[in-house]
Amino acid sequence: MLFGDVSEELARRVVEALRHVTDIEPPSALVRVSAQDGVDYQCDLAMSLGKRLGKPPREIAAAIAARLDVADLAEPPEVAGPGFLNFTLRSSWLAERTTALNGDPRLGVAVTPRPRRIAIDYSSPNVAKEMHAGHLRSTVIGDAITRLARFAGHEVIPHNHLGDWGTPFGMLIEHLLDERPSGPYTIGDLNGFYRAARSKFESDDDFASRSRNRVVLLQSGDDETLSLWRRLVDESTRHFTQVYELLGIDLTGRDIYGESFYNPFLAAVVDDLTAAGLTEVSDGAVCVFPDGFRNREGDPLPLIVRKRDGGYGYAATDLATVRYWTEQRGVTDLLYVVGAPQAQHFAMVFAVCRAAGWLRNEHRAEHIAFGSVLGEDGRAMKTRAGESVRLSDLLAEAVSHAAEVIDGRGDLSPDVRAEVAEAIGIGALKYADLSGDRERDYVFSWDRMLAVNGNTSVYLQYANTRIRSVLAKAGQDLTGARILLGHPAERALALALTRFPEAVGAATTGYLPHKLCTYLYETAVVFTRFYEQCPLLNAEGAGVRDSRLLLAELTSKTLTLGLSLLGISTPARL
Ligand code: ARG
Repeated sequence: MLFGDVSEELARRVVEALRHVTDIEPPSALVRVSAQDGVDYQCDLAMSLGKRLGKPPREIAAAIAARLDVADLAEPPEVAGPGFLNFTLRSSWLAERTTALNGDPRLGVAVTPRPRRIAIDYSSPNVAKEMHAGHLRSTVIGDAITRLARFAGHEVIPHNHLGDWGTPFGMLIEHLLDERPSGPYTIGDLNGFYRAARSKFESDDDFASRSRNRVVLLQSGDDETLSLWRRLVDESTRHFTQVYELLGIDLTGRDIYGESFYNPFLAAVVDDLTAAGLTEVSDGAVCVFPDGFRNREGDPLPLIVRKRDGGYGYAATDLATVRYWTEQRGVTDLLYVVGAPQAQHFAMVFAVCRAAGWLRNEHRAEHIAFGSVLGEDGRAMKTRAGESVRLSDLLAEAVSHAAEVIDGRGDLSPDVRAEVAEAIGIGALKYADLSGDRERDYVFSWDRMLAVNGNTSVYLQYANTRIRSVLAKAGQDLTGARILLGHPAERALALALTRFPEAVGAATTGYLPHKLCTYLYETAVVFTRFYEQCPLLNAEGAGVRDSRLLLAELTSKTLTLGLSLLGISTPARL
């Protein structure tokens, strides 16, 4: 019995067959899921080889087909159109495969033979500032990518790059010294300090110069300054932790590697870059001009490593971050789940790190960019008062909207209702964020994300509870039962269920959780068709009934595991 990805298995067999046809270096073949009726998978390798071999692609395809050994799982492949190889899986194989999948906790997803050590930067809000919708996206997408990579067998180390250092803290601390407010602070208080400090900084020269001085004290480790700074960080972290808990995100104090963490390494970053001959002094600032980056006027763009006043900024910290994780922690991959506007920043940081040798060939560094959250008017999401929307309000609102969805469910106890509302509301918020191509902006709409029909988490959660209740009603022990595929709707469902590894694979390797969402949605739709066409509890014959129950059970397992990889829970009842 083979486990893993069916399209990869077919691709392996195609490459094997090709070896008998020609001795050119066999390229890796790509076998894709086909949407065509009656065709399950398709391969276009012969077309890309036509030129190289100087033969008509159909002829090459036929020669490959003649040598292809797939009889254990598929019908003899057919040559179609200009030279496609079409595959149809044998129903008996699908039946065996799905029966076996039901006993596999990984549902056919293989563990990677080449585990990597991945450091992933996500969430990364700023101290003394409210988290906003962008941080929500980073948190939700980063969490899903973390879960997917861990499931694949990689080692994943999250690091929360808190904005906890630099010039804003000079003015914040100076403001605290002026006002001496009593704590504990709400996140709203902290936000207020930030605004008050900012406006004093702009209007009051004395305050501005005290603030600048305070930054120097902070960076040189002055005790009183540090203890006030610590307090701001701790109070903010308390709020971030609340948000993570509500979201069901496993980010804790142990994962915090704020900007301040890298402070001790900044001087060495400048020294290393200078020793490597990469720096230039421009306007008193130490800069690196990485190759290939120019502004609109065509002038080389600098990455500022040390400012004219001797201070270090955002870019220097990011250089130190890469250097720390690859050199000291031995990571192979660096992932950054950060909004698309920072694309150039990361491209420049990576380029400088490659030049400095902190990123080598074996390292992968990736900016996992995402678009903005827009209001229904198509502009950046704002409250009626024109302020950016507070994340904590958003979460509370999600849960209260979800409560409306299950309103009138007198059969659920108040406790269960509260739990379900949370699962639906938080799930909807996450799923809305994950189900679209992350690089695109998305329009935030409660109605759409909480729709009971369509590509939403509520739809998937409902489909799952419906299955669970049928299974409970059947009350049947299915051990030893086998899947039989007589009806086309049964076959279609079995086929969909064997494609879970492909969907998980695509979501994992491309950092594209929406591929898994689309798959889960399509599978739920195929299940609904099966459910409408094939009676379950009243099926004729014990074998057929068992088989259908088993298919239903595998569907529920697939939805549950799939949603859990996205960080979304599946309540037992809705
Ligand atoms: N704190 C930053 C912000 O809110 C995000 C930090 C992203 N991570 C990084 N290593 N630069 O925009």
